[in-house]
Amino acid sequence: MSKKSPVSRSGRFASGPAADVAQFTESISFDWRLWRHDILGSMAHAEMLRAIGVLTKKECTAIVRGLDAIGKEIKAGKFSWKAELEDVHMNIEAELTKRVPAGAKLHTARSRNDQVALDVRLWLRDEVTALLGEIANLQRALVLLGEKNAEVIIPGYTHMQRAQPVYLAHHLLAYVEMLERDCERLWDCHSRVNVCPLGSGAIAGSTLPLKRELVAKLLNFVNDAGQVQLTQNSMDGVSDRDFMIEFAAAAALLAVHISRLAEDVILWVSTEFNYIKIADAYTTGSSLMPQKKNPDIAELARGKTGRVVGNLMALLTLLKGLPMTYNRDLQEDKERLFDTADTVRATTRLMAAMLNNTTVNKPACATSASDPALLATDLADYLVRKGMAFRAAHHVVGAVVALAEKTGKPLNQLSLAEMQGVDKTFARDALGVFNLKTAMAKRNITGAPGTKEVAKQLARWRKQLS
Ligand code: ARG
Repeated sequence: MSKKSPVSRSGRFASGPAADVAQFTESISFDWRLWRHDILGSMAHAEMLRAIGVLTKKECTAIVRGLDAIGKEIKAGKFSWKAELEDVHMNIEAELTKRVPAGAKLHTARSRNDQVALDVRLWLRDEVTALLGEIANLQRALVLLGEKNAEVIIPGYTHMQRAQPVYLAHHLLAYVEMLERDCERLWDCHSRVNVCPLGSGAIAGSTLPLKRELVAKLLNFVNDAGQVQLTQNSMDGVSDRDFMIEFAAAAALLAVHISRLAEDVILWVSTEFNYIKIADAYTTGSSLMPQKKNPDIAELARGKTGRVVGNLMALLTLLKGLPMTYNRDLQEDKERLFDTADTVRATTRLMAAMLNNTTVNKPACATSASDPALLATDLADYLVRKGMAFRAAHHVVGAVVALAEKTGKPLNQLSLAEMQGVDKTFARDALGVFNLKTAMAKRNITGAPGTKEVAKQLARWRKQLS
């Protein structure tokens, strides 16, 4: 830092840091993104300094105007960031002080330690709100795809083996449920992000009679009940980053959920499944193989989960073993935070756009769903209805399946005589079990993929997301 800088550490140092030290320690190359929130925080702090008589009304107005002008220049890309001023906080304050003499009073009773804690909280608060909007869009895309294909049935899988039939919509709504829990976690995390640390100073608050509530109110650090939210311990206030880790954890789980969805999409567009088709604009080609159309959005969504999970690990490791209170290590939090937020937001948005441009190959789904083996469990339930113990029914149907395999017939092509050869309980109505429509109509308990239940769930989500 130049000794002439208006926000220099001045007195204590005979020289600025060596060039490579400045380069190693700077954060402006990434924390410039906090500018909007840094300015908002400074404006609120200035208002408060005026309220307690540190700034005159005139000085305060000059500061707020100066900050506003700087904000406009930054937005227009006309502001020149200086690496020698280390970070976003010093860059803005230095420029302000050059223009407005009273700017030299702005840092009264404030440290970059509580300033940066404030800025990231303000930034993250907005980010969580925006992400929640993107998740709702993805949920809507899933519901819409389900509604458009409400009659489509596909095999459900366990162990990647065909298990039982489900409506495609039921499969898609499973992700809507996961995403809803992600929203709940993010919103819960938001309540702990939404706490004002300003006034914590460097570590020990201030000897000046700051009005912390005023700052918090100006910056809308207010809970649902309208109560102002202030950090209650200055040491915690400057060194806590667990609100950030909560976000990184909730975001990692969101990424994992989206990654699972991506994996289904990748399977479904394969020639082997051929359940869905993604519009050209949402796929990419191969540089060598002319026939290829690749589901790159889904693959990258799956792949990017690695960095989001990695960011969570990086943040946890960053905090582990940090003594109280602020340590410069904490500067390392921002790139991980930004990367997580950017990655999950873009991924969520692109997955929604891709699904909105996806069509379902109904005949291919119908062919897969017509596999009568998917209803073997229904055949066991049939025997249970006739009074047989489930374990015995399971054994009998297993023997019927084995017989079908041995005779090379699909399960529903066995004759009644062949089935009765395995067990006398089978009656004329046994083969009716293999009517898929009837079978789907029967699964109507809450949460099951029955015809009525899935329609009910689709309607519930449609209403909830509108
Ligand atoms: N750039 C710093 C960070 O991101 C701001 C706080 C610096 N505080 C300090 N005492 N050097 O953490």
